Amino acid sequence: SDPDLVARAQAAKAALGDKVFVLGHHYQRDEVIQFADVTGDSFKLARDAAARPEAEYIVFCGVHFMAESADILTGPDQQVILPDLAAGCSMADMARLTQVEMAWEAMAEAGIAASVVPVTYMNSSADIKAFCGRNGGVVCTSSNAETALTWAFEQHGPDTKVLFLPDQHLGRNTAVLQMGYSLDDCVVWDPHRPHGGLTDEQLRDAKMILWKGHCSVHGRFSPEVVDALRAEIPDINILVHPECRHEVVLKADLVGSTEFIIKTIEAAPAGSAWAIGTELNLVKRLAAAHPDKRIVFLDKTVCYCSTMNRIDLPHFVWAMESLVAGTVVNRIEVDPDTERWALLALERMLALPG
Ligand code: 13P
Ligand code: SF4
Repeated sequence: SDPDLVARAQAAKAALGDKVFVLGHHYQRDEVIQFADVTGDSFKLARDAAARPEAEYIVFCGVHFMAESADILTGPDQQVILPDLAAGCSMADMARLTQVEMAWEAMAEAGIAASVVPVTYMNSSADIKAFCGRNGGVVCTSSNAETALTWAFEQHGPDTKVLFLPDQHLGRNTAVLQMGYSLDDCVVWDPHRPHGGLTDEQLRDAKMILWKGHCSVHGRFSPEVVDALRAEIPDINILVHPECRHEVVLKADLVGSTEFIIKTIEAAPAGSAWAIGTELNLVKRLAAAHPDKRIVFLDKTVCYCSTMNRIDLPHFVWAMESLVAGTVVNRIEVDPDTERWALLALERMLALPG
């Protein structure tokens, strides 16, 4: 990266001192993550966001829904900054509050709403988290989806159903591969079709109502590339993120959040071979940090998460130097009513065991 920009970022960080707390998600570019005080998956970053109550500014190097969650979880005097407002998440955009409210109404008409617990993946807007908070639901991340679903299924006895937003793959992979539900227990609510494309009977029979959302990066890994890699490197271990499609996760050796992926590679013996199906910045960083292990990207045709990559050094320097000059740019601020209910759903998650 540009040495001049690196020096400017260092100078701005030094000038701000304890006033600024920089959080960085594992999918961030190397040029940015080097300035993070804490790095993590979305669960760890949500937990750690409130770790520095004395910091006036929280510069969030990640995507919009993560910065919103940080705003919700931190004090009223702390300001959260997202260095580029265009750093969204296409998956989070796949569930809009009005669409979710329509689905909820349809469930009420089908006579099941009282037994449905809404569970949203962290990768959702604050108003979807608030919807879950208002309706007895919870937030989960890829590192605690099973625990959150177990909690949800205990809420209304044996009739309980879950509406899982917005990632159908995380919902299906967790329910089927970790909790013993069958594919027949799952239906997919398509917000672009009348009545979600489902009959009342299908809604009544389902245990998991999966929202039709997906990650545009992880959704591109295919079972064929897993087969091809196993043929090419016979002792390869396949390690993937649960946002991958069910057919891919079925063929993998291990599945877990980005934090799990990192810990797995750190604990792996020298000489072992790994193909990793997650965002490319993280895979490249792991390969560079572990030259004693063979680490390859699961599919060379899949590219970076384009929105994570929007946070680059020029944007980071601009945000930091603006703070030094006394100007807060790109503040992420959730309105108080949304915040109150979203916080309830996030606190339910943070109170889960483990
Ligand atoms: P983690 O929950 O593993 O941090 O993943 C977040 C994400 O955006 C994955 O695409
Ligand atoms: Fe969203 Fe996928 Fe990018 Fe994660 S990797 S931020 S889920 S688009």
